[in-house]
Formats: sequence, structure tokens, C-alpha cells
Amino acid sequence: MAAMARKRVAILISGRGSNMAALIEAAKDESYPAEIALVVSNEADAEGLARARSAGIETAVVDHRPFGKEREAFDRALQAVIASRRIDIVCLAGFMRLLTPWFVQQWQGRLLNIHPALLPAFKGLDTHARALAAGVEQHGATVHFVVPEMDSGPIVVQAAVPVHHDDTEPTLAARVLAVEHMIYPQALKLVAEERVTIASGRCLIDGKPAETIC
Ligand code: GRF
Repeated sequence: MAAMARKRVAILISGRGSNMAALIEAAKDESYPAEIALVVSNEADAEGLARARSAGIETAVVDHRPFGKEREAFDRALQAVIASRRIDIVCLAGFMRLLTPWFVQQWQGRLLNIHPALLPAFKGLDTHARALAAGVEQHGATVHFVVPEMDSGPIVVQAAVPVHHDDTEPTLAARVLAVEHMIYPQALKLVAEERVTIASGRCLIDGKPAETIC
């Protein structure tokens, strides 16, 4: 049987791009089922853009500001850039814009996000401070498919980390970030290999309920 072609991936960022860098690193291996074909930022000075360029990856900037409150017009501009590069899968990696249902619909089942918490706990921003304030013993990260409702789509992979009694926001964030860099490449691999299906709003891997927590 002929090997499946590597999926062409676009990564959307707004800032640092450390998850983007983890995906780029994983995809350097030719046996990895996805190649990073494009990095798009809504911020022209995003640190991640320089990292992507130095890895030899095509980059583009779609500034959201000229679109003002016209969110769908921004999303359509984004879609035009992505579609012209024959992209199969889109990965959000610290992309700080809410995408419209229209955009999400274009990429149903092919749009991933990473969130720095064990969803469904701590949706939204400032997850580490909120986890500390809540006194949870476990925190973590989640890769999930994007649906129109924020931080709510089917979960592909999660990783848990302990919360220590003397943790501060930066120490906890660093522990979570380390597992983010592991699970995003794992999750993208599963999706690129077409091993993930969605049934009743939950992910199945190879047709079986996913052992999502690692
Ligand atoms: C990560 O914590 C990610 O989970 C969240 O935004 C942060 C982005 O960091 N969505 P980086 O730009 O990947 O370094």
C-alpha cells in the first residue's frame, strides 16, 4: 500500500510560538505524517514569526486591526491565505483571536487548538492563576478540535501535571508548557494519520474511546 501523503499544516500564532516550534521540530522527521507548510500571525511582530522563518517555513501576516469589529471579514482574509496554500489541517498555537462559526465550519474536524488547562476546567484566559486560586491538585493541558463555542470541542489528548504547594503562576505555567510541547505533536500525528474520529462530540482513536490523559 502506498504511504499516505504528509498532511500540509498551517499554524496560527499571535506571540511567542513555542508550541509552533514544537510542531516544527516534530515535523522535521520525514516519517512524521504532517509537514508545516505555513505559519500565519495576526501580529506582525510576533516572536514566533522569526522562529518560523529561521526554520525555513513560509510565513504570512493577516493583521486583524483594519477589520475592526468585522470578525468574519478578518476570518475570510485568513481563509484566503490558508486556502491558497492547499492546507489540510490548521493548528492554533497561542492564536489570540476568537474565530467565527463561519471559519470553524470551513475546517470542521481539521482545526486543532491547545489550551493550558485540563478542559473542561478553566476555559478562557489566565488558567494558571485560576488553577492556583482554586487550589486544584492537578492541572495540565488539552489539545482539542475547535468548535464555535470557545475551548469546548472534542478532546484529542490531555496531559496532567501536579500542582505543588509552593507553585507560583510562572512555575506552574512552565510545568504545563513542557507537557504542551509533548502533546501537541502527539495529537497532530494522530489527526494527520486519520486515526481520530468524532462520535457524539467525543474523539475515538482507532475507533476506540481515547485514553486521552497521559
Ligand atoms: C500556550 O500556553 C497555549 O496553550 C495557549 O497559549 C500559549 C501559547 O504559547 N493557547 P506559545 O506561543 O505556543 O509559546
